[in-house]
Amino acid sequence: MLKIVVCVSGGGTNLQAILDAIDAGRITNTEILAVISNNPGAKALERARNHGICGICMSPKSYPDRETFNQAFTDKMIELAPDIVVLAGFLVRIPPRMVQVFSNRIVNIHPSLIPSFCGVGYYGLTVHEKALERGVKVTGATVHFVNEGMDEGPIIAQKPVLVEQGDTPELLQRRVMEQAEWILLPQAIDDIANGRLEIRDNQVYRR
Ligand code: GAR
Repeated sequence: MLKIVVCVSGGGTNLQAILDAIDAGRITNTEILAVISNNPGAKALERARNHGICGICMSPKSYPDRETFNQAFTDKMIELAPDIVVLAGFLVRIPPRMVQVFSNRIVNIHPSLIPSFCGVGYYGLTVHEKALERGVKVTGATVHFVNEGMDEGPIIAQKPVLVEQGDTPELLQRRVMEQAEWILLPQAIDDIANGRLEIRDNQVYRR
């Protein structure tokens, strides 16, 4: 049984996709130990609790400085001891020590085709604003393992989504979620839970 902790910041639609996929049997051999949010008002926490899952709030704002938060957050994760950590719309930078402790065991979903529209400052709606500003005709989503860089770890899966005339950032965000994110992230978790992936030379292969 793959034990996971899901980290969230906002709406939690990706968390919901994971919960639904577990219920529907599209993710197997997986148990959610806890959901951690940096935002006490996150709808995602409500979704977790509605599902009988322990929802924990850990906000950097409740700590004197980032270093103290980073230590507490990493220690909490070590205490929970998941096999993998899933960042499902988690908008806080992962502490370097946590990346080391959970090396190639932290999975992130990003709403673009990495290496486009990613890195520092690219999160949430901003990613889609930038894609529309640039006039790309195809965007999408990426699931990847987290390393020390920002959106730079080994790529697990990607899915393209077409940009349409008249798109707003909100419309595009919704289409990327529906056509890519909510499919890719549950699939990646199921692949990991069932031993279908391996990492060699910093790249992800299917067994
Ligand atoms: C999602 O689009 C996710 O890909 C993005 O935040 C949104 C969270 O939505 N994550 C990032 O931008 C990470 N760099 P949700 O809370 O409804 O799942």
